[in-house]
Amino acid sequence: MSRIAYVNGRYLPHGAASVHVEDRGYQFADGVYEVIAVRGGVLIDGDWHMGRLQRSLSELQIRMPMSPAALNVIFRETVRRNRFKDGIVYIQISRGVARRDHPFPNPEVRPAVVVTARRTPPQSAKVIEEGIAVITQPDIRWERCDIKAIALLPNVLVKQAAREQGAVEAWQVDGDGFVTEGGSTNAWIINADGHLVTRPVENAILNGITRRRLIALAKSHGLKVEERPFSLEEAKSAREAFLTSTTSLVTAVVKIDDTVLANGRPGSKTVALRQLYMDFMSETAISGATSQV
Ligand SMILES: Cc1ncc(COP(=O)(O)O)c(C=O)c1O
Repeated sequence: MSRIAYVNGRYLPHGAASVHVEDRGYQFADGVYEVIAVRGGVLIDGDWHMGRLQRSLSELQIRMPMSPAALNVIFRETVRRNRFKDGIVYIQISRGVARRDHPFPNPEVRPAVVVTARRTPPQSAKVIEEGIAVITQPDIRWERCDIKAIALLPNVLVKQAAREQGAVEAWQVDGDGFVTEGGSTNAWIINADGHLVTRPVENAILNGITRRRLIALAKSHGLKVEERPFSLEEAKSAREAFLTSTTSLVTAVVKIDDTVLANGRPGSKTVALRQLYMDFMSETAISGATSQV
């Protein structure tokens, strides 16, 4: 089945969808993006993704190209035209097309909008049952990792390093020996008291929507969540570890570099948290509700 993409007001066959060579996203990585999960045709936590998109744009002084309601119509229409129920929507907004010059172009230049959507397969049974290995890498990124910018070169490099070493993700470690986050996921551990520990939301990490949702779900089930930095040393001696993202959901981490965690199998709390998140997605798919805690 042919895929359809939305580009600046038009729905086009994927192969014919393109942006201008002087799009500032292409030339300067001057833009932002979101990836939103779709289950049963419903956007999961769509309101929170919209809020984060607006924040990213505003931090970079790129204007919102249209209302959230209009963008939502495009999301739903792109999903409909690609004829799937379970998958992802991708939106990218750049500062627009202008002659190459670093400072912002004239304010009349319209931001460029691209939306794509595709079906995604269910998470692999092997990953669910066995968990994954992560490697660690120095965090060489800038100081505004809270902005979901399309400038992802350091993330590309750490993810490639992970792949070359037979791992799925790389946990980035700051200059003080504390884990920030993965190349495309948030990092979590469970300590000896059974508390969930994850880095607080500040400029060093992306405020993951899955992270935010899981904190709400965990708290509502009586689990203690500590939002504080944790060191690589603490992670390697943790009872359990896992990562979260829109596409990885809640995935157990069973090995960090050469250290096997606990018995090398997904821990029971991680398995339970994953189930909480899966149930939340299924319930949202049925009720169509968005983003209420
Ligand atoms: C660097 C980084 N951290 C965390 C996440 C997880 O965020 P979310 O749960 O909103 O997908 C992502 C997702 O792309 C990411 O790129």
